[in-house]
Parts: sequence; structure tokens; C-alpha cells
Amino acid sequence: MSEIAEQKVFSPPEEFKKNANVKSEEVYEEGKDYIKFWEKRAEEMIEWFKKWDKVLEVDEPYYKWFINGKLNASYNCLDRWIEKGKGDKIAYIWEGEDGEVRKYTYKQLYEEVNKFANALKSMGVKKGDIVSIYLPMIPELPIAMLACARIGAPHSVVFAGFSAEAFRQRVEDAGSKYVITCDGYYRRGKVLDHKSKTDSGIEGLDIKKVIVVKRAGNEINMKEGRDVWWHELMKDQPAECEPEEMDAEDLLFLMYTSGTTGKPKGVMHTTGGYMVGVATTMKWVFDVKEDDVYWCTADIGWITGHSYIVYGPLANGITSIIYEGAPDYPNKDRWWEIIEKYKVTILYTAPTAIRLAMKWGEEWIEKHDLSSLRLLGSVGEPINPEAWLWYYKVIGKERCPIVDTWWMTETGMHIIAPLPGVTKLKPGSATFPFPGIQAEVRDENGVCKPGEKGDLVITTPWPSMLRGLYNAHEKYVEEYWSKYGFGKFFTGDGAIIDEDGYFWLLGRLGDVLNVAGHRLGTAEVESALVSHEAVAESAVVGVPDEIKGQVPFAYVVLKQGFEPSEELKKELIKHVSTVIGPTARPADILFVEDLPKTRSGKIMRRILRNIAEGKEEVGDVTTLRNPEIVEDIKKAMTERKL
Ligand code: WTA
Repeated sequence: MSEIAEQKVFSPPEEFKKNANVKSEEVYEEGKDYIKFWEKRAEEMIEWFKKWDKVLEVDEPYYKWFINGKLNASYNCLDRWIEKGKGDKIAYIWEGEDGEVRKYTYKQLYEEVNKFANALKSMGVKKGDIVSIYLPMIPELPIAMLACARIGAPHSVVFAGFSAEAFRQRVEDAGSKYVITCDGYYRRGKVLDHKSKTDSGIEGLDIKKVIVVKRAGNEINMKEGRDVWWHELMKDQPAECEPEEMDAEDLLFLMYTSGTTGKPKGVMHTTGGYMVGVATTMKWVFDVKEDDVYWCTADIGWITGHSYIVYGPLANGITSIIYEGAPDYPNKDRWWEIIEKYKVTILYTAPTAIRLAMKWGEEWIEKHDLSSLRLLGSVGEPINPEAWLWYYKVIGKERCPIVDTWWMTETGMHIIAPLPGVTKLKPGSATFPFPGIQAEVRDENGVCKPGEKGDLVITTPWPSMLRGLYNAHEKYVEEYWSKYGFGKFFTGDGAIIDEDGYFWLLGRLGDVLNVAGHRLGTAEVESALVSHEAVAESAVVGVPDEIKGQVPFAYVVLKQGFEPSEELKKELIKHVSTVIGPTARPADILFVEDLPKTRSGKIMRRILRNIAEGKEEVGDVTTLRNPEIVEDIKKAMTERKL
């Protein structure tokens, strides 16, 4: 804790405070009656076709919000701004990696969304059908999502960087009959063939239609009768499509995320509560105003992009940037160039990107005028105080508050985050639960004392909480509600609350890694490894990495007849990349004879984690069935380093 105690406290700059959307701590007081608090936000932030009868209904461990309320998410993102006379305001400025720029006003975005909504209907998509979207960072991605929302077809967006196999798993689990993809896209100047990947992902599945956006113009195969070009489909569609009246509790989307098993889980978010939660946090935490130019650098394929590139910003009627490509293409100052060019006022990014920029050096930043910035955000993993201070000084020039926002796919919206006009910041702390939310740090013995490490638990329901896992009731109960019981949402993150009540997040506990802000189950990597013919068994642990926070490290036991070699190691790393995606690639593999196991056969990952981190003390080995293996593995590890 000494490191924490030494930190300075940063108060909101006077100017910032004066103009902030939230100026007073009273909101925390108001939030204590959370039902009333969220009801007020629902009235303020969202337009409803029909008002709810009741704010919250609890049937543990399921929670419903805004009972019988009717609304449409796309209406709240588009129509209402046009009705308010803001049709000519820019909604999105999209910049392709190749320098192409497209701007969409709210009116233009509305028209594209309406046309595509009609296009989906013409393909046979109906309310309730889940549509799988496998698109990179191009404008058609938010357009497709909003079109789905408009007609009441839940979307399931799969990150374009995921492998064919990962895509397949998610399409299959969601039971999608419709897929939206593209020909190819740019990454570091090269065209990645996306259509072949899509095709191999859905091979053998019962898919009715595949809609293909033409982005890169690369040569692809179109399957007769199944595949349709986006631009051809859009040609004669009317630019008006009545928004479907959705119930507050109708499914808005599925977002697959990593859990403790090898299989990803389909997190369910519904319409009313989700919209209230993201619209409110967008306004309060990012302090967005009419003239802001906001840029979130995440990919829309993750929850951060769903909540804070698509639904949050549009539900506040603001202007956002979407950038297609890599931060270092053509040069390492691409991001800073974009900020200068569009006079970005709010930047929301991840610690891994900040650490990378630190490594690349300040000369890339000094070339650009970043004086338009007024607020900085961070998300995805704990931000170390060193990176926080660098972000504050070098990017924010000591003028911009930093909002470190802790949340997760399951929470839908920020849970622990500062209010930039109110909260005194401590570098490295996400500060306090958002008004209307209560959280605690505890263990089996109860609530922890200040300074003690425990599990982060959310103790009040919140409107954009997940409504379950798709077709996996038991898993839902087990993952979130079994450790501390109903009413105490187990996040899976470790945390400490200090003497002043600040929350310090310590990252994931146990079986989930956080690689450059991306969640990855150790079990997913393990099951990818054992799907290779040479592998009998494997154990994957996370090891610290200066830039990415954590990277997977794999222990592999080979089958009879296979010998360890550098080639095999490379092949296995490549195999994981093919099965899951490049983020999942093990940083290294150690071939071992056996894994340390308890008498009941459970792999002791804690020991393996300590060995991988090079610790002398690896922990208690007395409960092991095969304690002798620990010394062998330690030896193999040392020899490997020589
Ligand atoms: C981690 C991303 C510390 C955390 C929005 C959580 C963070 C996981 C922070 C969720 C933060 C996210 N400080 N850790 N500000 N934000 N995390 O579902 O471990 O992709 O459990 O959602 O990211 O990752 P997910």
C-alpha cells in the first residue's frame, strides 16, 4: 500500500468544474435511493413510446428494469435528434487507414440505417432473429447494428480479428441464420481477406443469407443464392423504416465474452435499462457537450465499442470519430495526427495503448497540437500510476482530468468511475462507484478492511446489468451469483478500498487473462492447444508484460511419439492464433513431462503462474499428487532462459 499512499491527489480544474455536467457531490446522495435515481435518469435521458409501470422487478438472480416500458434504441440514437432540428450535425467522422474519410450527419446516418433496416426485412429477417455481424471498423458496422435495433433483431457482433473458428462458435451458439461481413479490410497497409475467413467459419451451418460489404475490393467468392452485396441490396430501399416498438426487456444484443470455461458466454443485454445506463454514464463520466468531438479508440466488436462508440454517444447526440486501422500506420503518430486534424476534445483509450505510446517516445506527440483535448479516459485494465501520470502530463498537458472507468461486458456501462467535475483523482484508482451503484470488497469472511485485498462485488442492481447468459442459466448462476449469493454480483476482479474509500482494481482473479485489454479465458487457449494432434495436455497462465499488461504462457505435455522442438513450438503458437485469433498467441511455450495436480486431478495453476513469473517460492506443494514435478518444471524453466 505504500505506493498508493504516496500518490498525489488531483482536483478538477476550476474551469472544468464550472462547466461540468455534474458539478456537485449531491448526486451520490441522490443515488442512495437507486430506484428513484435511475427512474429520474430514464425520464431525462431516453425517449419512450410508452412509460414503464414499475422501475425494477427482482426474481433472483434475474432483474428486470422499466417494466412494460416501450422504446426503440435506434430511435433514441437517431430520430429524436432529427426531430430536435439536429439533422445536419455530424454523428460520425470515419477515417480509413488508407486516409479515406467519410462523414455522416445524423440525417445521413438515419437514412443509411433505415435503408439497411428495410434491406434486412427484405432478406427475411424478423423481430427476434439474431443477426451475427462480423465486420471491422467501417461505418457499415454501426449502421448494421442500429438497423437490427430498429427492426428488433438482436445483433451479435463478433470482433473481426477473431478467427473463423471463434466466429463459428458464436454463430452456432446464437443460432444465427443471417451474417453480415465484408470482402476485406486494411491493417498496416495490407488487405486482410475477411470473406474467406467468414466462409470457413460458417461452412456447414444453416445460414440463409450473408450480406457482404465491399470495403477493400479484393477478389472473393460469392455463394450463389446465399451471398448478397450490401451496396446492391441498398440500392432501391426506401429511406424510411418505422422503428419497432420494443419492450424495455427485449433483447438488444448478445456479446460473447470469455469466462472460466473454454466456451465463450453470450452475455445478454436488453433495450431499456441498457440505454438508460450507457446514455447516463456517457453524459456524466465523459461530460459530453454539444460541441465535443469524442474519440473512443476501442473496436466496436468489444463491449466498449458497443456502449461508448455506438449507443452512448449517439444517445447523447454528439460527434464521434471512428478510425479503421493501426495506431502506427503509416507512422507512430497516426493517433495524434487524428486528434489534431479533427480537434478531438475527449479521448477514451486503454492502458496498453498508453504504454505503447510511452515506449514509442514523445517525439511523435510533440509534432502535433493536442490542445483541443479537455478530458481523457482509460478502460480495459488497471492503469499503473506511471502510465496515468504520463497520460496526464504528455497527452493532457496537465489540463485534462482522467476518467479511469472500471466496468465489464456484463455490466454494460461504467460501474466504478470518477465524475470529472467533482471527483478528486488518485492516479491508478478508478475512484468510486457511479451514483446509484454500490460495491464492496469482500472475501469469505465478510467485508474487507481498508487496505485489504478481496473480491470486488456489486451489491445493488443497475439498469444495464446483464440479463443472463444466452441458453446458459446454470452457468449464469455459477459465474456471478454462487460465490456470495444472490444480490451480490461477483465480478471476478480483485480490489482494495483505501482509507479514503477509493477503489483500486487489481485485475482478474484466476482463470481469465487480460491481454492488452482483451479478455481471454486460460481454458480457451488450453482447448485450442489440445486440439493440435501433438498435444496431450496443457496449462495456460498469465504472465506480466510491460505493454500488454498480461500475456498467455503455456505449459504443454506432448503425446507419445512427439518430441519437443523449436519448430513444434512455433507451430503450436500459430495454431492458437488460427483457432482463436492473434491476441491469444502464447508468448512462449514450455514443454513438460507432466503438470502439477492435486489428488483430485485439478491442475495447480497458481504454482505454474509463480514458476512462469520466475518466483523462487512457488507455494504449497503438499497437496499435490506429484510434487516432484515442480522441481523438474522449475529446472526446465531455468534452462530455457539460459
Ligand atoms: C478489466 C471491458 C481495471 C477488469 C470494459 C474487468 C479494468 C475486465 C478496467 C472486463 C479498469 C476493465 N481498471 N481493470 N478501468 N476496465 N477492466 O468484459 O479485469 O472486455 O473484469 O470489458 O477488464 O473486460 P471486458
